[in-house]
Amino acid sequence: MLKTNIMGFEIKNPVVIGSGPWCRGENLKPALTCGAGAIVTETITGDSYPDVSPRYDYDSGSRGLQNIRLYSSIDLETWIHDLKEIEKNDRYGSDTKLIASVMGSSSSELAYIAKKVEKTGVDGIELGLACPMGEGVSVIASDAEKVYRYVSETVDAVKIPVSVKLSANSYNLPEVVKACNKAGAAGISAIDTVRGILSIDIETGRPGLATYGGYSGAPIKPIGLAIVAGIAQTSSLPLIGLGGIENGSNLLEYIMAGASAGGVSSAVLLRGYDVVGEILDYLEKWFESHNITDISMIKGRALDRLKSFEEIKVEKKVASLKEVCAGRDCDICSRGCLDTAIFNDNGIRVDSAKCSGCGVCINICPDKKFELVWK
Ligand SMILES: Cc1cc2nc3c(=O)[nH]c(=O)nc-3n(C[C@H](O)[C@H](O)[C@H](O)COP(=O)(O)O)c2cc1C
Repeated sequence: MLKTNIMGFEIKNPVVIGSGPWCRGENLKPALTCGAGAIVTETITGDSYPDVSPRYDYDSGSRGLQNIRLYSSIDLETWIHDLKEIEKNDRYGSDTKLIASVMGSSSSELAYIAKKVEKTGVDGIELGLACPMGEGVSVIASDAEKVYRYVSETVDAVKIPVSVKLSANSYNLPEVVKACNKAGAAGISAIDTVRGILSIDIETGRPGLATYGGYSGAPIKPIGLAIVAGIAQTSSLPLIGLGGIENGSNLLEYIMAGASAGGVSSAVLLRGYDVVGEILDYLEKWFESHNITDISMIKGRALDRLKSFEEIKVEKKVASLKEVCAGRDCDICSRGCLDTAIFNDNGIRVDSAKCSGCGVCINICPDKKFELVWK
């Protein structure tokens, strides 16, 4: 029921553990055995990058996370050893697919690393072309010609499928996606973290972390959904959607935006591998209660309804109260109404001649008392 296809092969369910430190060294075993359809290793490079301290800043209110890790602090030879050990141990009895994320300082180094990693027995390669940390790195995923060179050289060097990871920091996405397609990529993962600074202490002027970082978690879901939907509307490459997936309903949103599977990263860091089982339970129940027997029945469901701005019909709708509101202490609807159409006159009233039907009141009323009706 939950099986799906990513980058040319089938996985048992659409929950992918995205690339990061929860998929390296000793963490590979719990990642592989927690029930995910696939896992993606932390990005393996030719050099190892130091782990600075501290490297995480978290805001529990918005559930946004900033990290300043740049690729893996484990060197290539150790990675090769660790991946071979996994195969020697028969992947600890798990049928979860194993994808290696790799990156190089040039297209030829990238192809070389991918070939070395392929020999360990991994199922696929993901090219980490969009990491927003370090200088100049994100440029690769913004430059369609470079992307073509990096992807095609790797595709030529290995026999297993190659996918490309993109981010909101990759400009010119339509051209970049075309370049991935032309170069023989088997899939796309999006999005990587978004370049960001989570916080600045206004007493000391000190930023939460020592450099620009990758912003992730719940607040980036709208950005991820928009990028995934945009790619799905212009390309038929299988997509793994990432960015702010914390639960099964978030993952379904990505499927409806056109992804074949959803990746979970920050949620694994913040809540552990159990989050995978929780998402799977939700998906199973949701599929059953909605009579969905195959992901293809819901994949891309939102895309037809995502129109260009010019295509949206201007509908004459106005706000209306579903029930009487005495105008309790909040009065937030009248204060938030830019049309000055909502006012308190012995109870909340709407002047439908002034209301332009923007919908703010529907969103901000704590008691959900408003609806939009035809004028
Ligand atoms: C601490 C941390 C380390 C990460 N390391 C990598 C990495 O090595 N390679 C990569 O492609 N993405 C990396 N990512 C990006 C995630 O895989 C994912 O694309 C991004 O965080 C958005 O998903 P999320 O909101 O579920 O975290 C990392 C993210 C975090 C938070």
